[in-house]
Amino acid sequence: MRIDLKTKWMIFLFFLFCAAVGGGAQAKKEDLPPPLTSLAKDGIHDPENPAINALQNPDESLKSFPKDSRGEVDWVKALRDGLIDPRHSLNNSESDALSVLDMDVIMEQTAGMPHVRFPHKAHTEWLSCDNCHDKIFIPKKNANPVTMDKIFQGQFCGRCHDRVSFSLWVCNRCHNVLHEKSPKKAWWK
Ligand code: HEC
Ligand code: HEC
Ligand code: HEC
Repeated sequence: MRIDLKTKWMIFLFFLFCAAVGGGAQAKKEDLPPPLTSLAKDGIHDPENPAINALQNPDESLKSFPKDSRGEVDWVKALRDGLIDPRHSLNNSESDALSVLDMDVIMEQTAGMPHVRFPHKAHTEWLSCDNCHDKIFIPKKNANPVTMDKIFQGQFCGRCHDRVSFSLWVCNRCHNVLHEKSPKKAWWK
């Protein structure tokens, strides 16, 4: 039987997907509750406590924020649209302002997935350099042995994504630079 190129790609991608999902079994277990879960069901608040009724549920408090394809709030867009204005620190003094670095690093060890554009800007608007350098990432292109498996296990990008930042299950927010070998049809969206 002759397998055409397109079918070969589909098989290859299927295995990649299984590898990613297999590696992700642990990530899924620890995954954040689905977006906009009510406070009584989020596993953090006590549903028996009558004071819970004094609090707004996320579907109400986060109603008018922009969302990503998983239905999570897109905080980067909320910041850019001026919907939020986070404080620099507790006393919000200008001397605590973060130094924003507008530098993208394209990470290319992505097999058949589009390359990853790592945006320093979207990070340094909220984080300082020493949140990542040098403990999580050596500040040098290609100096870090990042794999999807390690990310799903909570290393590298997984230190924050799927925890305090957007979910690893929205592949295209990171894998968004198409290249010769990436498939034409975006099955991962
Ligand atoms: C959220 C984590 C994070 C933060 C915060 C961060 N970086 Fe990075 N930085 C990275 C990653 C990831 C890379 C790419 C590493 C790789 O390719 O293996 C990188 C790469 C770099 C590089 C090397 C670029 C190159 O082309 O070789 C420099 C320089 C750098 N960062 C400086 C900074 C400075 C200065 C700040 C603070 C203003 C900062 N970074 C904040 C994650 C971060
Ligand atoms: C938070 C950002 C982020 C998200 C979300 C993400 N990836 Fe990745 N992925 C990466 C980085 C970074 C690499 C390593 C790139 C490098 O080292 O050059 C990578 C590498 C990969 C690779 C290359 C082989 C390997 O195992 O390392 C595959 C395949 C992959 N990702 C698939 C996926 C799939 C499928 C999803 C969605 C279920 C996904 N990724 C979501 C950042 C992400
Ligand atoms: C120290 C925590 C931390 C680490 C490590 C980290 N991120 Fe992030 N990332 C964030 C935060 C916080 C934001 C902005 C708020 C949000 O979207 O939740 C963000 C935003 C982003 C965005 C912007 C998405 C957009 O829509 O503009 C991308 C892309 C991204 N991260 C990819 C990565 C990749 C790839 C890695 C690993 C190479 C990584 N991040 C490592 C915390 C982190």
